[in-house]
Amino acid sequence: VPVAVLISGRGSNMRALVAAAARPDYPARIVLVLSNVEGAPGLAHAEASGIPTLTIPHRAFGRDREAHERAVDAALRKEGVGLVCLAGYMRLLTPFLVRAWAGRMLNIHPSLLPAFPGLDTHARALAAGVKLHGCTVHHVTEAMDEGPIVAQAAVPVLPGDTEASLAARVLAAEHRLYPAALALVARGEAGVPAPGESLLANPL
Ligand code: GRF
Repeated sequence: VPVAVLISGRGSNMRALVAAAARPDYPARIVLVLSNVEGAPGLAHAEASGIPTLTIPHRAFGRDREAHERAVDAALRKEGVGLVCLAGYMRLLTPFLVRAWAGRMLNIHPSLLPAFPGLDTHARALAAGVKLHGCTVHHVTEAMDEGPIVAQAAVPVLPGDTEASLAARVLAAEHRLYPAALALVARGEAGVPAPGESLLANPL
């Protein structure tokens, strides 16, 4: 399955997907890394791996979010993309792009959803005193961080953890989870579960 990865910054999850997809038995290949931010650090890594990159700056479209998404959608279709992975793509999507890619667009979120949607998940997990935290790969729907869950990985919250130490532990889990979850979806083994139905926990 040809896959596009959408990034806005560091791109470490994108790199994990690129590395996994380089294995001969992996059921997806990364055909495009697309950024909405010029000079996103992840772009240089993708180029170094020989992956085609494209930047479509949202700033060029002013307040017209859908016009930006129409440009993104056209680029995805031009490359024959079959699945889209959001990986640190820091844009709220409009219904246009969500509907265009329904069932074919995944996101990774750094918490065990439905706990801690939105930003600052690690600080909020520490403040809440949870003992388990983690990450979630889910289908993208119109409500932010709410689509059907494909897979999750849990990590412990340890005594003395800081936001940074917890973020690093979760990020390492993200780098294992996202390639595993994408493989499930690409093989058609995850399907599109009904809302609230989780097909698999910790497939690692
Ligand atoms: C990750 O923590 C991801 O879960 C969240 O944004 C961060 C992106 O990091 N959506 P990177 O760009 O993949 O390094």
